Amino acid sequence: MEKRIDMTTSPDFRFRRLRKTPVLRQLVQENQISINDFILPLFIEEGIDQPVEIASMPGVQRYPESQLAEVVNRVWARGIKAIILFGVSTHKDEVGSDSWDDSGLMSRMIRCAKTAQPEMLVISDNCFCEYTDHGHCGVVCDDDVDNDETLANLQRQVLASARAGVDMIAPSGMMDGTVAAIREVLDNNGYGTLPIMAYSTKFASAFYGPFRDAVDSSFKGTRDSYQMNPANGREALAESMMDEAEGADLLMVKPGMAYLDVIANIRANSSLPLAVYHVSGEYAMIKAAAKAGVIDEKAIVLETMMAFKRAGVDLIITYYAEQLADWLAPRI
Ligand code: PBG
Ligand code: ZN
Repeated sequence: MEKRIDMTTSPDFRFRRLRKTPVLRQLVQENQISINDFILPLFIEEGIDQPVEIASMPGVQRYPESQLAEVVNRVWARGIKAIILFGVSTHKDEVGSDSWDDSGLMSRMIRCAKTAQPEMLVISDNCFCEYTDHGHCGVVCDDDVDNDETLANLQRQVLASARAGVDMIAPSGMMDGTVAAIREVLDNNGYGTLPIMAYSTKFASAFYGPFRDAVDSSFKGTRDSYQMNPANGREALAESMMDEAEGADLLMVKPGMAYLDVIANIRANSSLPLAVYHVSGEYAMIKAAAKAGVIDEKAIVLETMMAFKRAGVDLIITYYAEQLADWLAPRI
């Protein structure tokens, strides 16, 4: 066999030959971003009748329920095809029971969004922190969140979401055995085709700060006993591989920018679709820097999205989805 000459080892090789013109650069570009990659988070809050802007996240509103249909139609018209719904409940109790009530906020949001635009892919963020009076992501026992009691309630919640017509379940609570528990209850109740996007590797991150300010204001404490330690890379892979084994249809890393190594590692070890959650703090930092006039916002956001794709993600959950829809729209 003829020995293949590796041109890149030759001192005469010129990388710059393919960087000469825009057409050439586009032709050899390895990754692309498209509006089809994005999922927009939406916050719906009970007890308000006008949108309330989140102070640290300019451009991101908490909407009243009465405006959800209109918002869904607006973002659909802009080209957004998938949303993930967060409810901010005023009907809180110790266990978050409103979240599994068929007439509770989570069920109503799903029905409203699907009715407004049946083709919109509607994902529910399935957790309890917006529905419990203490703000933890499950049932508190002895100063900690009880894993298996929380899972029993989560099974109730996802069945309610399924009955409401949701297109995808996204459990974000980081209890062990979450995906298996959800898969089992869905399959046993006639929802065998409903996919699960696991928040499979979710870190206990300071990057959630603006989100907490906006929707979790009653929460005092930490989620360190259930979310992952940001120091752990091997465990980050193990968490996602476990969710794959339990039957997850998609995996996720959250947050994004500080965890590109984790994304790349999961990509190398799984063939499932992989999502990243570009979280509130990441959004807020870019907005603040843009406002201060020290960066080019559009260029920074596009470069960030490209970094996620290069690291290996297929889907991106981002508060920038609406702006990206404009930036990526074909110009005539
Ligand atoms: C709660 C939840 C959080 C986020 C989404 N769902 C915060 C947390 O886990 O403390 C973060 C979203 C963001 O920061 O953009 N399960
Ligand atoms: Zn939660």
